[in-house]
Amino acid sequence: MHRIVVTGGAGFIGSNFVRYALGAYPDVHIVNVDKLTYAGNLDNLKDLDPARHTFVHADIANAEAMAKAMDGCDAVVNFAADSHVDRSIMEASDFIATNVKGVHNILEAAKKLGTKRVLLVSTDEVYGSIAKGSFKETDPVGPRNPYSASKAGGELLGLSYFHTFGVPVTITRGSNTYGPYQYPEKVLPLFVTNAIDGEPLPLYGDGKNVRDWLFVEDHCRGIDHALRHGAPGEIYNIAGENERENIVLTTKILQETGRDESLIKPVTDRPGHDRRYSIDASKLRALGWEPRMNWDDGIALTIRWYRDNEWWWRKIKSGEFREYYKRQYGQRG
Ligand code: NAD
Ligand code: TYD
Repeated sequence: MHRIVVTGGAGFIGSNFVRYALGAYPDVHIVNVDKLTYAGNLDNLKDLDPARHTFVHADIANAEAMAKAMDGCDAVVNFAADSHVDRSIMEASDFIATNVKGVHNILEAAKKLGTKRVLLVSTDEVYGSIAKGSFKETDPVGPRNPYSASKAGGELLGLSYFHTFGVPVTITRGSNTYGPYQYPEKVLPLFVTNAIDGEPLPLYGDGKNVRDWLFVEDHCRGIDHALRHGAPGEIYNIAGENERENIVLTTKILQETGRDESLIKPVTDRPGHDRRYSIDASKLRALGWEPRMNWDDGIALTIRWYRDNEWWWRKIKSGEFREYYKRQYGQRG
């Protein structure tokens, strides 16, 4: 694989993936297609070698732009998405436009061009909540918010293009991901940056919802592993195997940033808030992947990164984000 199209590569996981792939494979060239929504950020790509990384400012729903970007490439890895559950609850149309229609457009381009591999990056949220045990890839999907429903829609279209047209689509379902360059609307970078500033941490509901935390480089290696060793038509779970209640995550962040629990602010719960996510990654493990980062090191490294890179997140938090924050948290009490 020499030429890979990455979509959404100016976002959190996409930019980490581009950096990972360029580091791991000296002969790879990445064509990075990104619309630069509020979550896309060229600052995430500053250190990349322009000889091996071409940035294309385009929407994945633009058929002409995608056909041009994908022409002559060996694979396409789709990260482009509207990705935040709370925003999807406020207004879902962009989620449908990108996560369903945009994916459809990539599939059409792949069908016409005969693209050799199409990897759709998806999420454990498509399964919905599970009280005990962990979901396997053979379990049915049961998404319960507009974001996860739109991701499930994109996945199902992908599988339909595999079965109907033979487009070689592989799907990964990663768990909650954390690490450098994550937009501070998601709980972990939001709480870390608020804690650094001594601002309240708005904890939803009783704080006992459980997420499985996966370090971003482990997620990127998992996606790359499924791309190179996985089979078309197959789905692979990528788990952090590191489940924590939100209150435990919050307390850890407060300890690591030297703050006390008075900063915790219980607020009104998210509507339809999934209680627990848990997935079984034994299928990808059987192909030789495993998560490597342990929780204590991952959280320490991540907090250090946000401390050392205030230039990166202060710019974000003083822009459009302020309006969003007011709208999202203003009425939560
Ligand atoms: P992100 O919001 O940080 O980045 C998304 C990127 O996609 C941005 O650069 C944005 O500009 C771009 N984009 C959005 N709409 C686009 C469009 N129409 N055309 C082109 N580019 C567009 O998201 P992320 O957290 O990096 O997530 C990346 C992918 O991984 C998503 O598909 C998401 O569903 C999936 N995922 C995320 C997590 C997580 O915890 N963050 C976990 C599992 C799966
Ligand atoms: P989030 O980072 O939005 O990811 P997801 O909803 O995709 O799992 O939220 C992670 C968990 O943190 C989820 O249970 C909701 C909770 N949460 C809060 O308690 N407060 C917040 O301000 C946010 C953004 C999330």
